[in-house]
Amino acid sequence: MNNKETTKQTREMIKERAARIEQIIARFLPEETGYQRTVLSAMNYTMNAGGKRLRPMLMEETFKMYGGEDRDLIEPFMAAIEMIHTYSLIHDDLPALDNDDYRRGRKTAHVVYGEAMAILAGDALLNYAFETAAKAFQGNEKDIQTAKAMQVLTRKPGIYGMIGGQTADVELEGQTIDMDTLLFIHENKTAALIECAMLIGAILAGAPEPDLAVIEQIGSKVGLAFQIQDDILDKTSTTEELGKPVGSDEKNAKNTYVSIKGLDQARIDQERLTREAIDLFGQLGGQNTFLKELLLSLTNRTH
Ligand code: IPE
Ligand code: IPE
Ligand code: MG
Ligand code: MG
Ligand code: MG
Repeated sequence: MNNKETTKQTREMIKERAARIEQIIARFLPEETGYQRTVLSAMNYTMNAGGKRLRPMLMEETFKMYGGEDRDLIEPFMAAIEMIHTYSLIHDDLPALDNDDYRRGRKTAHVVYGEAMAILAGDALLNYAFETAAKAFQGNEKDIQTAKAMQVLTRKPGIYGMIGGQTADVELEGQTIDMDTLLFIHENKTAALIECAMLIGAILAGAPEPDLAVIEQIGSKVGLAFQIQDDILDKTSTTEELGKPVGSDEKNAKNTYVSIKGLDQARIDQERLTREAIDLFGQLGGQNTFLKELLLSLTNRTH
């Protein structure tokens, strides 16, 4: 299949899976009651705003690739990773970080609930993600795999992953940086969570150890390609199409793949990275055609 085309059938499958993931996530969201209901409502506001649900989708498809079937194992982790991703968006949009007013087609959490509640809603989602993932423990032999998945869920979004990348991203605004530094930012702020999703799917399905290193490499390449496309869309798309402000990177004098390499090279590189990721599937024990098509479709995503 050409990088530039996504078949109607693949698009339909992506839509259908995202709709099922919405239902799974909904079951794990908190009730908006008690003295803390304002923060609970702010959590649900951004969780329910939609989004592509890419990370739980990648997790579920990697789980299926290795024959995973136990829904009580995978579903808490699918909800958890979307909670962590959503917390990162709420905090990323805060005035102290990217200062953006729209997200997922709605006013951002801090605009609606105020900064204090948005900070707390982000904190709460991060913690609730771990409470939620811990529901996968069953008191049987599968708990060894669940504990391993839990280790990945704690590490990849952390200071040696997503938060590390966000730190460098914010601190180096307006400064001239080299390509290695930009790759550190993109690898950590974005690819780490994609790696996290795919690794957890593989681990919970009992994938063989040597495959995990390859899965991590696939996630790294796909994650870098995903952030390159995010940088491209910030320049070329519209706020309406994206559901978040365009021109945010220029406003904040961010270093992006586009600001360093230009639009044409960015397009070439993100397609190459995706192709390299797809080729790595040849080294794996499991196969999942839809997963490969999903990854290819990300190269021409418009939001
Ligand atoms: C946005 O992620 C943040 C980045 C890492 C670029 P997504 O583009 O997956 O956002 P949603 O979940 O679809 O809203
Ligand atoms: C953010 O990158 C990645 C996160 C960890 C949230 P961006 O700042 O480019 O993401 P968007 O464009 O606001 O979604
Ligand atoms: Mg940012
Ligand atoms: Mg941002
Ligand atoms: Mg962006």
